[in-house]
Amino acid sequence: MKIERILQSQGFGSRKECRGLVRAGRFRIAGELIDDPFAEHDTEGLEFTVDEVNWRFHERAYVMLHKPANYECSRKPQYHPSVFALLPEQFARREVQTVGRLDHDTTGLLLLSDDGQFIHVWSSGKKRIPKVYEVRTHEPVTGQLVADLLAGVALHDEPAPIKARACEQIGSHTLRLTVTEGKYHQVKRMIAAAHHHVDALHRSGIGGLQLPDDLAPGQWRWMDADDVARLADHSCEA
Ligand code: URA
Repeated sequence: MKIERILQSQGFGSRKECRGLVRAGRFRIAGELIDDPFAEHDTEGLEFTVDEVNWRFHERAYVMLHKPANYECSRKPQYHPSVFALLPEQFARREVQTVGRLDHDTTGLLLLSDDGQFIHVWSSGKKRIPKVYEVRTHEPVTGQLVADLLAGVALHDEPAPIKARACEQIGSHTLRLTVTEGKYHQVKRMIAAAHHHVDALHRSGIGGLQLPDDLAPGQWRWMDADDVARLADHSCEA
């Protein structure tokens, strides 16, 4: 693929902008300056630098972010900064989108991609992928709360009660709750339907993919093929 096309595909701007970037001597492969935007290069495993920042070619972007509190999962946020402010601008330029949304005050594992099919599959509730949340409740957790969530609670506009896939008490005010649907404000509404309130919500896993311990709030990383495969692994189901 031509260098200008490679850079365009990776979110470095229009073809014209990428051509200018290469001609300006800002592009290198293995330390070697390449200033011909029409030079051909294999993309498989390609690593390059732009302005001395390292990049690896990714045909499609699959990214995990440790979402901090007080960020909105929208490109046009209303009250808080956008999660896209935590990512390189190249991602917005290649039209990376969030896979579903977390509320502004929810923390934890958020996936993003520019693969429309991937976004569709993993954000629709159809696959019934378990999503694991650590919930801090305002009122003490009771056996009744756990039992109600497991038995199913009625949510407004839902024809049938929604059951937690799994639910366990992990502290006086904390629960680990697994749900499979992905409905709007689902966890907060389920807890409210069981006469409690959520003080803090954190998503720790999706399918078999856990938020890595070494990914600090606000940090992101590329997902590799194993991470993507882990998503489909339901072994986190209780
Ligand atoms: N359920 C909620 O209520 N909020 C989230 O952000 C995610 C799940």
